[in-house]
Amino acid sequence: MKVSIVGGGPGGLYFALLAQKAWPRWDITVYERNRPDDTFGFGVVFSDQTLDAFKAYDGPSYEMIRRRFAYWGDVDVVVKGRALRSGGNGFCGCSRVALLHILHDRCRELGVKLVFQKEIDSLDALPASDLTVVADGINSKIREKYKTHFKPSVDLRPNKFVWLGSTRPLDAFKYFFREAPEGIVLAHAYQYEEGRSTWIIETDEQTWRNFGFDRMDEAAMLETAERLFAEELDGHRFIANRSLWRNFPTITNETWVKVEGKAAAVLVGDAKATAHFSIGSGTKLAMEDAISLFSSLQKEKTKEDALRKYDTGRREEVEKTQHAANVSLAWFEHMRRYWDMDPLQFAFGVMSRSKQITWENLELRDPQFIREVRCWYAGKMKDQGLDIDLANPPVPMFTPFRLRGMTVENRVAVSAMDQYSAVEGVPGDWHLVHLGARATGGAGLVFVEMTCVSADGRITPGCTGLWNETQRDAFRRITDFCHANSKAKLCLQIGHSGRKGSTQLGWERMDHPLEKGNWPVVSASPVPYHEGISQTPRALSPEDMKVIELQFVKSTQLADEAGFDMLEVHMAHGYLLASFISPLTNRRTDDYGGSIENRMRFPLAVFSACRKVFPKEKPMSVRISAADWAPGGLSGEDLLALTNMLKEAGCDLIDCSTGQTVPQQRPVYGRMYQAPYADWVRNEVGIATMTVGAITSADQVNTLLASGKADLVALGRPHLVNPYFTLQAAAWYQHEGQFWPPQYLPGRDQALRNAQRERAELTELRLRARPASHEVK
Ligand SMILES: Cc1cc2nc3c(=O)[nH]c(=O)nc-3n(C[C@H](O)[C@H](O)[C@H](O)COP(=O)(O)OP(=O)(O)OC[C@H]3O[C@@H](n4cnc5c(N)ncnc54)[C@H](O)[C@@H]3O)c2cc1C
Ligand SMILES: Cc1cc2nc3c(=O)[nH]c(=O)nc-3n(C[C@H](O)[C@H](O)[C@H](O)COP(=O)(O)O)c2cc1C
Repeated sequence: MKVSIVGGGPGGLYFALLAQKAWPRWDITVYERNRPDDTFGFGVVFSDQTLDAFKAYDGPSYEMIRRRFAYWGDVDVVVKGRALRSGGNGFCGCSRVALLHILHDRCRELGVKLVFQKEIDSLDALPASDLTVVADGINSKIREKYKTHFKPSVDLRPNKFVWLGSTRPLDAFKYFFREAPEGIVLAHAYQYEEGRSTWIIETDEQTWRNFGFDRMDEAAMLETAERLFAEELDGHRFIANRSLWRNFPTITNETWVKVEGKAAAVLVGDAKATAHFSIGSGTKLAMEDAISLFSSLQKEKTKEDALRKYDTGRREEVEKTQHAANVSLAWFEHMRRYWDMDPLQFAFGVMSRSKQITWENLELRDPQFIREVRCWYAGKMKDQGLDIDLANPPVPMFTPFRLRGMTVENRVAVSAMDQYSAVEGVPGDWHLVHLGARATGGAGLVFVEMTCVSADGRITPGCTGLWNETQRDAFRRITDFCHANSKAKLCLQIGHSGRKGSTQLGWERMDHPLEKGNWPVVSASPVPYHEGISQTPRALSPEDMKVIELQFVKSTQLADEAGFDMLEVHMAHGYLLASFISPLTNRRTDDYGGSIENRMRFPLAVFSACRKVFPKEKPMSVRISAADWAPGGLSGEDLLALTNMLKEAGCDLIDCSTGQTVPQQRPVYGRMYQAPYADWVRNEVGIATMTVGAITSADQVNTLLASGKADLVALGRPHLVNPYFTLQAAAWYQHEGQFWPPQYLPGRDQALRNAQRERAELTELRLRARPASHEVK
C-alpha cells in the first residue's frame, strides 16, 4: 500500500511510524513544507495518562520522549500578589522541535521516507496514493480545498493570544494574571527544557487594543509584554518566533474521511479538530488520532471500513475534549467576571474551570489546597454572622445560607417538580409523603412544584393550585409536618401555565392538549406551542393582565398563610410570564412587546405586586429560562437586563434554568450544563443564584459552590430516586452538624461509620488508579 502523509507535525509523524512498524512493506512518505529544524512555537505538554498510551503503542519513541521531557506536578495561580499552588497534577513538557526530532529519528529508523520543503496543496498532487493522511495542521489547505466534502466549521474565539518563549526557569505550570490600567492579561507559562519556557499571553480584544498591540511591530510588542510581566520574568527576556497575535479557531468537520474509487483521504490532528491551548491537548489529540487511525486499520478488514470506524469511533472522545476545551477557554474569555473574587476562590475557579477537575479529585491531588479553600469558604460565611464551627469547617455544601430572615441549613435544594397528583388543585397524601421525605432527607431548601394561581392557569388537571382556602389548608398540613420534623425551609413556586396549559399529565403526552375537557389558554401572543396540535392561545389584554396579577397576589397571601418560608415566581419554561420574556413567543407591538424593558413589563408588575404583600423578612426568587436554545431566542444582553430589573425589584435569588420555551429547542446537555448561566448572572449582576440541571453528586455541588458559580445547588431527578441525598453526603464528609430526625439517629451512626470506611477505600483505589509518573529520576 502506498501512503502519503501531508504535514510532518506530531500527528502525521506518529501515524507514519506506527504504520511503518506494523506494515514494513508499506510505502510511506511524509511531505513537510518546512525544513527539519524549523518549528513554530516552543514547548508541548503531555499528561502522565497520555504517556501511558505512547508507552503502549511504541516503546522506543516513548523512551526517548520520557527521557527528554521536563516534569512537574504543581500548578500555580499567581494573582494579585498571591501565588496559590496546587500539587499532584502530573505533567511533562519538551520543546516542539525536540519532539519532532524524536519522531523524525524513529520514522527514519523504521523506513518512513521524509520529504522536507515540499508543499502539497491538493490530493491531485499525490495520484498514486492508496491512502492520504491529511495532517497539515490548523490552516489545512487540503481541508479547505475539499471543504464542500469535509464541511468544516470554524468558531473564531474573541480573545487574542500570542505564543512566546523565555529563558526564565519555572518550577511549576504557572498562570500569571496581571492587571494594568489597560485591562487584565494572563500568561500561561511552563518550562519545557532546562532554561526554556513557553509563555502564551492571552487577553480580551479591548485590553489588547488599549495596550496598542494592534498597532505594534514584534519588537514593540515584546517590550510591552516584558514590562507588564517584569516581575514574573525576573530579569529574563521574552523570545519571539513568528509570534503573531491570533484568535483561537475551534475547528470541527462534519466528516473526516473522503473515499473516491481506490483513493482515500483522512483528516487527523488540528486539520480535523482543534482544542484550545488552555487544556494543553492539541498535540495529545493529534497523536491520539494517529493511534486511533492506526488501530482501526489494524482491526478492520478493509481500508474503507477502517476509515469509517475511525470517523465514527473516535468522534465522541474528540468532541469530549473539545467540549472541555471550550468550557475552559470560556473561563479565560470572562476573566474580568471573576476578578473581584478572593484569590483562593479565583484559583479554585481556574483549576476547576473545565469541569474535569472537581472538589474531590483536587483534594486527592492536594489536600492542603482544598483545606485552605474549605476554611476560606466557611470563614466567609462566618463573617456574614452565620453559625459555623471554624475549628472543623464544613465543606461548602454544608455551610448555611441566608436570604432576608431565612437561613437554610445547607446549600442543597430540591428543585421544583410537578407531581401531577392533585385533585382540584389540592395537594394530597402523595404530596405530604413526597415533600415530607425530601425535607427529612436533609436538603436545606425544598421547592414545591409549580402551583397555579387559577384553575385555568394549571398546566394539567393534576397540578396543584393555590386560589382557595381548601388548597391553603392542605399545604399547611405539609409545611407543618416538614417544619416539625426537619430543618428544611419550604419555598412555594407559583405560576400560570399560559399557552402550555390544558395539557396532559407528565407521564402521558406532555405538552399535548387533553383528550377531552380542554379549557381555553392565554399567552403573550396568539402562537400555539405545537403548530397544528396545540390550542392557539388568546393574547392577553392589559385588563386580563391585571386580573392575573391579582390572582398571583392572592396566591402569595395564601402561601404566607400556608406557612411557606419563601416564594418563587415561575418565569421560565415557556409558561405565561416566560411567554412575555422570550422574543420567540412574544410578538406584541404594544407596550408589552419589543424591547426587553417592554417584554418584562408584565412579569415585573406581577413580581412587584407579590413582593408587596409577601412578608418583608421572607425571601422571594424568580425562576428564569436563561437561554431558549433556539435561534432568535433570549440574548445574553437580555438576560443581564432582565435579571438586573428583578434585582432592582427586590428579588433575592435567581433560579437559573434554561429552555422549554419552544419545542424546536436544541439544548446542549452535559454535566452541570446550566451552571454557566447561574455563574454569569451571579458574577455579572451581583445577585444570589441557584443552579440546577444534570448535577448528580455532592462533589459537583461543592465544586460549583467553591468556584462561586452559584449560592445554592438544586437537584431534581436525583432527589426522586434518593430523598436522602443530603444525609448521605453529610455522612460522606463526616459532617456532624447536619440535622437528622431523631427517629433516624441509629441510621446516622452506621452511615457515618460506613462512609468513613468506604471513603478511605475509594481514596486508596483512586490513588492507585492514578497514572504513575514517567519521569526518569
Ligand atoms: C499557542 C499555542 C499553544 C499550544 N500549546 C500546546 C501545548 O502546550 N501542548 C500541546 O499539546 N499542544 C499545544 N498546542 C497545539 C499544538 O501545537 C497542535 O495542536 C499540534 O501541533 C497539532 O498537531 P498536528 O500534527 O495536527 O499539526 P501541526 O503540528 O500544526 O503540524 C502540521 C504540519 O504540517 C505542515 N504543513 C502545513 N501545510 C502543509 C502543506 N500544504 N504541505 C506540507 N506540509 C504542510 C506544517 O508545516 C506543520 O509542520 C498549542 C497551539 C498553539 C497555537
Ligand atoms: C417530574 C418533573 C417535574 C418538574 N416540574 C417542575 C416544576 O413544577 N417547576 C419547575 O420549575 N421545574 C420543574 N421541573 C424541572 C426541574 O425543576 C429541574 O429543573 C430539572 O429536572 C433539571 O434538574 P435535574 O437534572 O436535577 O433533574 C420538573 C422536572 C421533573 C423531572
